This record gives sequence, C-alpha cells and structure tokens, in this order.
Amino acid sequence: MTKTATIFRALVAAAAFAAGNVSAAGAGIEMESAQVDLGNKGSLQRGAALYMSYCSACHSLGYMRYSRMAEDLGLTEEEVTQNLMFTDAKFGEAMNTGLDPNQATAWFGKAPPDLSLIARRKAEGADWVYNYMKTFYVDESRPMGWNNAVFPGASMPHVLWELQGSQHVLTEPKHEGGHCPKGEAFGQCITGYSIPEHKKGSLSPEEYDQVARDLTAFLAYVGEPSASKREAIGVWAVLFLALFTLLAYFLKQEYWRDVH
Ligand code: HEC
Repeated sequence: MTKTATIFRALVAAAAFAAGNVSAAGAGIEMESAQVDLGNKGSLQRGAALYMSYCSACHSLGYMRYSRMAEDLGLTEEEVTQNLMFTDAKFGEAMNTGLDPNQATAWFGKAPPDLSLIARRKAEGADWVYNYMKTFYVDESRPMGWNNAVFPGASMPHVLWELQGSQHVLTEPKHEGGHCPKGEAFGQCITGYSIPEHKKGSLSPEEYDQVARDLTAFLAYVGEPSASKREAIGVWAVLFLALFTLLAYFLKQEYWRDVH
C-alpha cells in the first residue's frame, strides 16, 4: 500500500470514529432546541439578571468580567453595580462567586463548577443547558430531593422551582434493550411531566421556557463573547470581497478590450 493510501485510510477511520462519537452523544436524549438569539440584547440582559439572582451565589463565570458584560449587553456601569453585583467585587473584575469551594463540597457533595464555557463544552451545546433547566423533577431518594433527566444524579437543587413549579415525571416501563428518548427515571422511560395543582410555579409553561431560553442565551454569550461581533465583521468581509470581485472583473474587461 502506498503512503498516500495509508494516510487516506487513517483519515477515513478518524472521520468514522468522530461521526460515531457524535451519534453516540445524540443517542442519549432528544433535546428540545433552545432557539437562542445572541443578537437579542433584551434576552441577554434578562438572562444576565436571572443568572445573577439565581445562579451566581454558587457558580462563577471566571472568564467574564462585569465591565465586559456591561459593554457587550449595552448596560451602564451604574446599572451593573447597583442591580447585578451581589459580591464586593470591582466592576473590572471577573464574575466569581463568593462561595467557599470547601463549604460547597460539604453541602452539595460537589463544588458547583465554573459555567464560563458550559454552553460550548457539552456535545449538544447550548441546548443541553436549556434542557437541563427544564427537566428537574422531584425525587425523594436524592439528597436535595431533586433529580434531572439530562443530568441524572445531579447534585444541584432545582433553584428555579418557584418559577416553574415542582415537576413529577410520568413514566412507562422500559422495553428490553429499548431506548428512552426523553431519558430515564426510577428505572423506567420518562414520557412527560406533570405539576400537581398545589405545587404550581409562578410562571406559565411558556413564560418558564422563556426564562430557560434567556438564561441559556446568556451562558452561550459568556462562552463566546465575541460571536456576535464576529458575525458583524463577517458580513462586512463578504461585502468587501463581493465588491472587490466586481472591480477585478471590470478591470479585466477593460484590459482585454483591445486584445480581442
Ligand atoms: C445552591 C447552589 C447552586 C445554585 C444556586 C445553582 N447551581 Fe448549578 N450546580 C450546583 C452544583 C453543586 C452542581 C454540580 C452538580 C453535579 O456535578 O452533580 C451544579 C451544576 C450545574 C451545571 C452542570 C455543570 C457541568 O459541568 O456539568 C449547570 C449547567 C448549572 N449548574 C447551571 C446552573 C444555573 C443556570 C443556575 C441558576 C439558574 C444554577 N446552576 C444555580 C449548584 C448550584
């Protein structure tokens, strides 16, 4: 076999392996699309406010500074320091939690991880975060009383339960060798969720979806703060290239006119 053929085979094998990995990840749970819009400043601002109120006590965003967030989201220094900062951090500092990791480990069995890159790290990207926020359900056997369909055995409590309400899973027996597209709970396949009347949240399901979407959008932005700027630059680059091609074409016509 020639050297080129060997390299070619290795590449094909690597590609097949990569494809296999992707479908293996996809064979988990069917994710609902988060439909985030990074160009929607209102959604990002709401997401930031939700994040600071409900998540920042436990999770850090060590790669993001308050000042950078303010600039990107169109907020003033005053708005951020007065409404969104709950620690004694300075405006130019990273968005770290005040939580002591040792204490957190004692409480939750695990220190809450930094979420700067969470929307990029999971194979399903931002959709994972969205589905995680939507699939907490009551499970008395867990230390916090909560479990999660996309992150079974998660040691995080459902911090948004007052908004969403307390979901219970609806299940049906798992077929032998079968697959549960919505995940598993109590050894069975999850078919859906229900919220008992007296455990309803303060939001409607649609309003809660929007909360999950805004939070997800904010975390997607934090994971790639330059994405919206890059898209804007990309448009200009393409326009420039188009214009340049046109000019080159006319120039060529001009040069060759006398030759023909
Ligand atoms: C009371 C503390 C606490 C609060 C508040 C909290 N979390 Fe968590 N979170 C945790 C812990 C602990 C874990 C680790 C779970 C595990 O690994 O079992 C976690 C894990 C996560 C993960 C998975 C991270 C990974 O690397 O897999 C995400 C995503 C997440 N939290 C998002 C949020 C969001 C969004 C909020 C706000 C709505 C929030 N959390 C509020 C404690 C908290």
